[in-house]
Amino acid sequence: NKKAFIFDLDGVIVDTAKYHFLAWQKIAQSLNINFTHEDNELLKGVSRVRSLDIILGLGNVQASQEDKDKWLIQKNEDYLSYLVDMDENEILPGVFKTLQLLKDKNQGIALGSASKNARPILEKTGIISYFDVIVDGNDVTNAKPDPEVFLKAAQLLNIDPKNSIVFEDSVAGIQAANIAEMVSVGIGEETILHEADFIFKDFTVIDENFIESLITK
Ligand code: G6P
Ligand code: MG
Repeated sequence: NKKAFIFDLDGVIVDTAKYHFLAWQKIAQSLNINFTHEDNELLKGVSRVRSLDIILGLGNVQASQEDKDKWLIQKNEDYLSYLVDMDENEILPGVFKTLQLLKDKNQGIALGSASKNARPILEKTGIISYFDVIVDGNDVTNAKPDPEVFLKAAQLLNIDPKNSIVFEDSVAGIQAANIAEMVSVGIGEETILHEADFIFKDFTVIDENFIESLITK
């Protein structure tokens, strides 16, 4: 019994969601746009370009393509500055244990992320070798909640979407998994991720029995 276990990156494997927030907040502040933690939920799982449009929309700001390109570069440079010293300590609790368990059980393991910075992050944190397949922001044209990123991951693993499980911290990602008819597992708060099939606060509370039940389902 081989299933596809597809992991989002930011906020699921690594604690980078906070850095994305800080970097976007700087852009928003420089434009006098009020941008809260609550607004930030809308940006999780969403591409860089689309995220900027959402922020500009919050402040009703119209901008030229030239300005937008400049802010996108600024945001990414600032974001990357938080990652300079990144190492395996940035891997969220319970993630290594879960990946190892899936490896031991011979399951398909994929990354399904909107980020264009995914590969360097997986390398810096020493976790890249766990992944049989990596699909990231460089490989897809449609952003979550479009299921393209997860469907592509399952396809590369040669496993049916119905036999695929997605771990996500974003509303857009849970919706993408549901649209793809995959099992959706929310990592985070129940109030935000209520559309998920299962919700856990983090990987420390995901035990072997649960993983086994997904494999044999
Ligand atoms: C993930 C994050 C988003 C981020 C997007 C693009 O989905 O949840 O916050 O904007 O990736 O990431 P990138 O590293 O390419 O800017
Ligand atoms: Mg995420």
